[in-house]
Formats: sequence, C-alpha cells, structure tokens
Amino acid sequence: MVYDLLILGGGPGGYTAAERAGNAGLKIALFEKDTLGGVCLNEGCIPTKTMLNSAKIYNHANNSEIFAVTSADVSFNQAQVVKRKNKVVKILVGGVKAKMKNSGVEVIKADASLHGKEGALFRVDACNETYLGKNLLIATGSTPTIPPISGLKEGLESGFVVTNKEILDLEEIPERLTVIGGGVIGLEMASYFQTIGSRVTVIEMQDHIAGDTDSQIRKMLQDIYTKKGIKFILEAKVTKVGDGYIRYESTDVSAEIEADIVLLSVGRRPVIEGYGLDSLGVEVEGGAIKTDAQCRTNIPRVYAAGDVNGRWMLAHAASREAEVAVNTILGKEDEMTYNNCPGVIYTSPEVAYVGATTAELDLEGRPYKMIDIPFSYSGRYMAETNREQSLCKLIVDEVDHTLVGCHLLGPYVSEIIITAGIMIERKMTLTEIKQQIFPHPTVAEIIREGIFLLQG
Ligand code: NAI
Repeated sequence: MVYDLLILGGGPGGYTAAERAGNAGLKIALFEKDTLGGVCLNEGCIPTKTMLNSAKIYNHANNSEIFAVTSADVSFNQAQVVKRKNKVVKILVGGVKAKMKNSGVEVIKADASLHGKEGALFRVDACNETYLGKNLLIATGSTPTIPPISGLKEGLESGFVVTNKEILDLEEIPERLTVIGGGVIGLEMASYFQTIGSRVTVIEMQDHIAGDTDSQIRKMLQDIYTKKGIKFILEAKVTKVGDGYIRYESTDVSAEIEADIVLLSVGRRPVIEGYGLDSLGVEVEGGAIKTDAQCRTNIPRVYAAGDVNGRWMLAHAASREAEVAVNTILGKEDEMTYNNCPGVIYTSPEVAYVGATTAELDLEGRPYKMIDIPFSYSGRYMAETNREQSLCKLIVDEVDHTLVGCHLLGPYVSEIIITAGIMIERKMTLTEIKQQIFPHPTVAEIIREGIFLLQG
C-alpha cells in the first residue's frame, strides 16, 4: 500500500501532522509503539498539570483564611490524585484516537523501523508488513538524559532514582525528595512535592535555576521557593548515587544527602537511534535531526518535527512544526518562527516568557527599552491573590518601538503570555498595542499598564 505520508511517532508532533494532513485528504499511516499522545499526554504536560492543580487546591485550602474562608481537616490523597491523573490522561488519549479516526489516519501500534527507500518511496516495516510512503515525517521525540554518575544505573533499577515518568505514579508522598537538575521538570516537581509535604532539595549544576529564563525572574522564583522551604544547592554536581543517599560536589564542598526518592531531571535527548534512521542518511547535528524553517531534513521529502530536532523541546513547538511540515508537503507556503514561541514553568507563581531576554539583546548589542513592574498594578491580581512576589518585564526595540520580549512571574501568566506572543509575532509597535482593548479587570492588563508606563 502506498501512502502520501508515513509518520513515525504519535506525540504532539506526529498526531498533529496526521490530523492536519488527513483532513487535507492525504493518505496517512502513523506508527506508535506505545500510547498515542506521546510524552506530553502520557508522562509530561498533562499529567503534571493535573497533579499540580491538586497541589494548588490543597495550598488554597490550607491558606483559605487569607480570603476569609475557614477550612478544617484539609488533607491530600496522593493515591487518588494519581488515579485522577490517569483518568484525565485516558480521556485525552481517547480524544487523540478519535481525532485520528475522524481524520482518516491509519494508526499502527508497532515498533516500526525505517528501511531506506524503494525507488522513490520511503519504506517502513511494522508488524511484518511493509508500508511505502511518498513523504516521511520523523516525530520520535526525546528521552531523559542519563548522565554518567556512579551508582545511577543501580539507583534507577531499584526505584530509588526516578525520571519524570515514574515520579507521576508515586502513590506515597516521599518524606525527603532530592531533585537532580533545577530546570523545568525539576522545578515543577519540586514545587508539587514541596506543596504536598515533602522536604525537597534541588541540586543544580549552574549558578542559577530555570535555565535561560530572565535572570531577575529566576532569582525571584528561587527566593519564593526558598521561603516556602525548598533547599537549593547550586553549582553542584552529583557524583554518586548510593543506597538511600546521593553525593554531590561543588567548588568547596563534597557532601552526602539522604533521600527517600531522587528525581533525575537533567534534560532530555532526541530519539535518533533504534529505528533505522541511518538507512536514509538523514543528517544529525549535536544529537538531533537537523531541520530547516520548513522542518525539512537534508533528504528531500523527509521531515522532522518535535523534540527529535532538538530545537525547542516543547509540545506546542512540536505541533506547530508538524503543521509547517504538512503545509510544505501540501505545497503551501509556511515557515517556523521560534521568536514567538512561549515557554512556561508551571510553578506557583508561574513563569511565562516569550521573545528575547535582556541578556540576549545585550549580547547582540541591540538597543532596547525595558520596564519591570509588579502585578499590583492589576486590580484582579490584588483582588484574587495574596500578593506574592510578581514581575512583568517588557522589552521594546529602541529603534522601531516594537515589543521584542515579555517575561512574567505571577498568577495565570501561562494563559496571558500568548497575548505578548502575538504582539511580538505581528511586530506590533507600542502605539498599536495601546490601541488594543483589554478586558477589565484581568491580570493580563499588566501588559497594557507596562506599555503605558514605558511610552506614556
Ligand atoms: P532542562 O534542560 O530544563 O533542565 C535540566 C537542568 O539540569 C539544567 O538546569 C542543567 O544545568 C541541570 N543539570 C544537568 N546535569 C546536571 C547534573 N549532573 N547535576 C545537577 N544539575 C544538572 O531539562 P528538564 O527539566 O529535564 O526538562 C526536559 C525538557 O522537557 C526541557 O526541554 C523542557 O523544555 C521540557 N519540559 C517542558 C515543560 C513545560 O513547558 N512546562 C515541563 C517539563 C518539561
């Protein structure tokens, strides 16, 4: 059977491409060895947000007095939270299955392998069948990085060390959780377990948490969570995993920490091995499939979308890349732009950002104007929160007066950041932004306040 498009991987990159291409009338075969939805749906975005919401409600209940509401006997049932998480995931996986069916996509549950080309067609083998395709999309995702730490392998085998996957199924709250890596996964999970009662330590190799996010915001986030009780050990590397403890070393200290569970969250790497990528000669750079702005690889009619290209390892980047690849196959003009791609860390408060940081602009030597204000300028924020630390940082190009960066720390910012993303994508000037009517009262108005304070 000859297909218009063969897709390897059923995560947000793969299933979005299948849906869009199927709806455009293409004949699609999608191969997934595990569960449709990929990491995002099964062991990433959705399960973590489900669980974090329970923790948020628990926190609200414990602190309801601030809002003149008395609550008693507040308790947290971790096993029930895991159960609810599984239910939410199941429903959403069912939704993806339904979408595939409605879009006429043939889903093959199999560990498929690439076998180069037969004539002009790409060949994929699965379940003792051969599938031939005019186009190929590789959307095989990523897997946790396992660094060469002594005893880590044994720790992972015994369950003392877990990755982002296993931690979501812990039915008991660990008394002491140590997190290796203070990036996105590390911080979200540290936030969750701290809120529900674990004593949490985060060990981070760099001198700051939260990677390349705005330096002021990541410092504020660290201060907030230090006050809540998380211990951050920075500029430290874990060198050994022992029986019930880990050893870390920093410039002047070498110490051991006892823990009940250790979360390993030191990054992810693209999945480029084990399915015959070599058979096509697809170019790999830095461990990731090299793609251009149309998500094309070096081999004509072979595309790659999602974590496997090593660009922005985010579900929403993957789905947009998938759309760009499909549009290119369909002969429609489209291209990936990453400067409008938002990032979010779902801590409490949340961090959300889009566009350039001041550090990046300083490096480029590009002139800019910047303002940072607390969210107390927003009436809704004052009405609904306990006025935790917050920040709205807006960066504007000094020459053409367009918004080029927005960095937020506060409530609801994961929902607000798209506003700034569109402004950046559309290259809106301060004057144009000022003409937009924001609903009142909303926390989003903080952006409008900031713009007026910048330009008057
Ligand atoms: P990450 O790259 O965000 O953070 C890893 C951290 O570990 C870095 O700060 C790094 O300096 C540190 N590190 C590396 N080796 C270390 C060592 N030996 N000892 C101590 N620290 C060490 O990776 P993370 O958190 O594992 O997330 C993986 C991917 O998943 C990311 O690309 C992220 O974007 C994505 N993700 C996105 C989410 C979101 O959008 N909210 C949620 C969860 C994951």
